[in-house]
Amino acid sequence: MNLKNLSILLAALPLAACAHGPAGEAMAAWAPEESQAIAAWPVRSPTTVQDAEVEAHIRAIVAGMTLEQKIGQMTQPDIRYITPDQVREHYIGTILNGGGAWPSMDKHASVADWAALADAYAHASTSTDMPVQIPILWGIDAVHGNNNVYGATLFPHNIGLGAAHDPELIERIGAATARSVRATGISWAFAPTLAVAENQRWGRAYESYSSDPAEVARNGAALVRGLQGDMVGEGAVLATAKHFVGDGGTYLGIDQGETRTSADYLARVHGAGYYATLDAHVQSVMVSYSSWTMDGRIPFGKMHGDKALVTGVLKQSLGFDGLVVSDWNAIEQVPGCSVDHCPQAINAGVDIFMVPEKWQGFIANTIADVREGRVPMARIDDAVTRILRVKFRLGLFDRPTSASRYTGDASAISDRPLAQEAVRKSVVLLKNDNGTLPLAPGKRVLVVGAAADSFADQSGGWSITWQGDAIDNGDFPNGETLLAGMQRVFGSANVTYSPDAHGVDPARFDVVVAVLSETPHAEMKGDVRWPAPLSHSASYPGDAALLARVSGKGAPVVTVLYSGRTVYTTDLLNQSDAFVAAFLPGTEAGAMADLMAGRNGLDFSGRLSFAWPNTPCISGGEPAGEALFPRNYGLSYRAGKKTGKLREAESVQSCP
Ligand code: BGC
Ligand code: BGC
Repeated sequence: MNLKNLSILLAALPLAACAHGPAGEAMAAWAPEESQAIAAWPVRSPTTVQDAEVEAHIRAIVAGMTLEQKIGQMTQPDIRYITPDQVREHYIGTILNGGGAWPSMDKHASVADWAALADAYAHASTSTDMPVQIPILWGIDAVHGNNNVYGATLFPHNIGLGAAHDPELIERIGAATARSVRATGISWAFAPTLAVAENQRWGRAYESYSSDPAEVARNGAALVRGLQGDMVGEGAVLATAKHFVGDGGTYLGIDQGETRTSADYLARVHGAGYYATLDAHVQSVMVSYSSWTMDGRIPFGKMHGDKALVTGVLKQSLGFDGLVVSDWNAIEQVPGCSVDHCPQAINAGVDIFMVPEKWQGFIANTIADVREGRVPMARIDDAVTRILRVKFRLGLFDRPTSASRYTGDASAISDRPLAQEAVRKSVVLLKNDNGTLPLAPGKRVLVVGAAADSFADQSGGWSITWQGDAIDNGDFPNGETLLAGMQRVFGSANVTYSPDAHGVDPARFDVVVAVLSETPHAEMKGDVRWPAPLSHSASYPGDAALLARVSGKGAPVVTVLYSGRTVYTTDLLNQSDAFVAAFLPGTEAGAMADLMAGRNGLDFSGRLSFAWPNTPCISGGEPAGEALFPRNYGLSYRAGKKTGKLREAESVQSCP
């Protein structure tokens, strides 16, 4: 035995020595490669203290439940596919609304409509024939504010928040988001995403705070503190650490793909956010769609079927005693499973099953699995115990879901000043030659680009709808576009707007502000698949043409880019005198206008949370040699610097 094996064995000893994990499950016998994977993670004691009285109470409740009632607790349908009556009949423990699901499928449902529906589900869940009534928990993707809700303030997406380097700001955003969620009668947010995005081709790159695991850890923990508060308060919601684990490390940045890396790297880099959020007492963890291949050779398969990681690492080594939820229909990707049947995932350690549509089949199949011995009753009891434990910790048993001063209060979904602060801190100044910015008051400004007046573009995916598509300015009653902000700051008379820049003469203005944008996107659809070039101009030739119409035409050009990623833009930088990477600022993009005017001494402070590529053919990772601007780069008025002409990559249609 070499030294390495010995150390693995020693690291595994504390696990092997006890017969039961922190939560009382019997320890599995692991295959050697599983032991190796588990041993890469530290053994930690649970961070949240268990209340002996509550635990005894939970044991008594579980002991009195039928199998149907237990499986009902483990089943999570989407509100589009279940009525309150069905919640009561099937003892459903949790529900969710996926992106773009609203009460009565009304995009403009009011806060009162949301709260009323939440009340109806809650009432149904506590009107069953069970001896002890178990209140339902509703989860929502409040990932940048309560983003499914009409009128809610949307904060910058995580890529921008990472650039703010201000965890305290993120904690306040968490608290504001929690109030907004409680306003709708909901008590669970599926956030924060703890992905360490390693490839900007990934369509979810913007959900990642940074490629620096330490930043992900700091910011993720801050969001958990903000969301969960003291857990039981009127403005507290359950947070979710997601997606466990390795979601940001997939090969070529393919969504739901394969993460090929060593056990040590997985634990150290992709695990970073989990240690921090567990320390912050996060009570739920969502499993990743991705799979893991150890060292690129040893397939552990889809995370949803991976007992070594979900149970061995998360629940046992890391001492997590909260609940583990699956991702949307993710079980169907586990070999041998289907969309409504997956004993492997239950046995792997998933406690709640997000089976949005086919929940009835899931209940029937799982009951049969237990009756026929494919899933041990002890595993079911462990799952239900965890679900009840979290419900107790949230104080759900002591209060109706709607018992919060925020519930139904339309003002609680809005915090515009906080969002404006976040926008000002999260946008990054990449170029500012010849002191183009700040713009003095009274300047005549030509604003071009349809994105300048588009809430959809500035908000990105997970905004009212899942992909951020099929929405327009009428869906955002509260907020300010960049165009509106420019008009407010410079005076409407001084601002001329031309979405397409046709038929306007830039020379007649003091400055041109060109707003370019990616099309809003979310998971799957947002990937830029290798070998396609990762270049804004290649993806959006219309934006390149727009900029060409105003650049070098007699007025300096300030380019503002809305993007969910760092992306090759050297050609666009060269056609701009100043360049602002705005990422996806949310509903208060107009706050950038104050910054661009340098009002009250305002200055840029954002610094990149990901490196900015200098080639469209970046395939993965962030090799220093392929960075035009490294992580943490960002200019300010105080600390200016001439960028000058940058060397452009040859324009490519497809990478080698
Ligand atoms: C996403 C999760 C999200 C869930 C519910 C999934 O497709 O990966 O991040 O929480 O849907 O909408
Ligand atoms: C649904 C969304 C959901 C998403 C999760 C979509 O098919 O329409 O509501 O959030 O899947 O992946």
